[in-house]
Amino acid sequence: MRTELSPNERAKYLCAEKAAEFVSSGMKVGLGTGSTAYWLVKHLGRKVRDEGLNITGVPTSLKTSELAKSEGIPICSLDEAGWLDITIDGADEISPGFNLIKGGGGAHLREKIVAMASDKMVVIADSSKKVAELGSFPLPLEVIRYGCESTKSQVVQYLTQNGYKDPQVMYRTSKDKRFITDEGNFILDLQLNFISDECILSNDLNLIPGVVENGLFVNICNCVVVADENGQVTVDWKKNEDQNS
Ligand code: A5P
Repeated sequence: MRTELSPNERAKYLCAEKAAEFVSSGMKVGLGTGSTAYWLVKHLGRKVRDEGLNITGVPTSLKTSELAKSEGIPICSLDEAGWLDITIDGADEISPGFNLIKGGGGAHLREKIVAMASDKMVVIADSSKKVAELGSFPLPLEVIRYGCESTKSQVVQYLTQNGYKDPQVMYRTSKDKRFITDEGNFILDLQLNFISDECILSNDLNLIPGVVENGLFVNICNCVVVADENGQVTVDWKKNEDQNS
């Protein structure tokens, strides 16, 4: 199958395959969302069917839930699981300090809740996702529909008052309509180009009424598994952490 894939898709396949090795029987596993997490679910599904891997998956989106079911992976809700051994998910940008921008697929709210309820979060990505600084990828912000224009204005005001010159803040759309998340909310995409302090920005944005959650994952990711288009896979654990910690 791998030879039929484009180099970029093969990279996603390979990093997901490597991360699937971190999963063993008895584990409760957070299942990410997106085109890289797709391969993770496929690899785990194969292991469940062919190798007797006995896990329970907690999907981070309706889409992943459907995929996991079709792959034969037993699933449950986060509340039923309580606490997870590991969450494996993709990312849109990965900083050298293991901070992330997520939410390109609109699932960052559930993804953050699930990752935070896990012993460890492993990020899988093709090597293009590693960046020197976060901010080129538009930062997703999930906002409730009520009063969303007012929320948007307050987001723009906060950004302009805090050093982000002329920030572009746009509603995400899908098929010419506003994109609706699994939780029934809108997404604002913030084109910032740079982020001066990820922790401050994340905390401050979440204080604006109407904002549900932003796509910055600060100090959540423990391990990054990256594959490049030559098929080279690297596993990096955050300093002072390893697979067994
Ligand atoms: C979903 O909302 C996102 O957080 C994804 O995990 C992220 O966008 C990475 O997706 P890809 O693996 O499709 O690039």
